[in-house]
Amino acid sequence: MMGMERDLTQKVKAQFGRQAERYAASRPHAKGDSLDLMVEWAAPRPSDLVLDVATGTGFTAFAFAALAKRVVATDLTANMLTQARRLASERGLTNLLFHLAEAEALPFHDGVFDIATCRLAPHHFASVPRFLAEMHRVLRPGGRLVLCDSASPEDAESFAWQQEAERTRDPSHVRNYSPTEWRRMTEQACFHVDRVNTEHRSHLTFSDWVRTSGSDPATVMVLRERFLKAPPAVRNAFQIQLDGEEIHFSWMLAIVLAHRG
Ligand SMILES: C[S@@+](CC[C@H](N)C(=O)[O-])C[C@H]1O[C@@H](n2cnc3c(N)ncnc32)[C@H](O)[C@@H]1O
Repeated sequence: MMGMERDLTQKVKAQFGRQAERYAASRPHAKGDSLDLMVEWAAPRPSDLVLDVATGTGFTAFAFAALAKRVVATDLTANMLTQARRLASERGLTNLLFHLAEAEALPFHDGVFDIATCRLAPHHFASVPRFLAEMHRVLRPGGRLVLCDSASPEDAESFAWQQEAERTRDPSHVRNYSPTEWRRMTEQACFHVDRVNTEHRSHLTFSDWVRTSGSDPATVMVLRERFLKAPPAVRNAFQIQLDGEEIHFSWMLAIVLAHRG
């Protein structure tokens, strides 16, 4: 692993290690139309073996475990997996296996999974192309890939504003990708892209957003100023609205269904 990637891995482990309990209680992560659509598109069967990469506290894995034979769920951060195991046992789910693993180097044989999923995590990865290559390798021919991540709008001003806000909030943030970039990267990893959906959004309040990341008061002030002074095109792109003291906003989600030929 290169030095910069090692630094990023440390940042991810520090960020999510500290915040694991908050993620376990986070409503936007626990459910949502986007997760329902991922399950609908992947259409898991009772015989399917599913891989969920960067499972966090396990919400995507749980949705698939209810329908598939078994779900193998991986993450880089031990504390997130501890919370995922706790929640799985509270829900009485017994068909899940958890592994500590990097998205870019999966410890599985070629062609073993029927479905591979990853939700709300690729914007933390050092290399999305390497992650996609790994997803392609571990899926069987015909296997389905379903991804969902907060995406960036196609315009440069909104993209730059969002990246600055996300990196200020969370040092382990690497980059959001536009729907066009998602399609291109998935095709370049030799997948056949079936659908890309951008109709779903992650609706957030500013206070929940900075609470989930555990941002310190000085950072929260800088971010609040940034939201309040956002230019009109940015306010429009992210649906930024002031309601009393609270700021409401949303990120567009890119949801990708693809399959291995
Ligand atoms: C927002 S959480 C994921 C949410 C989860 N997928 C869900 O559907 O609720 C992001 C997760 O990505 C993990 N992560 C970040 N970079 C990673 C990497 N390179 N490899 C594996 N996991 C990674 C973090 O440890 C964290 O648990």
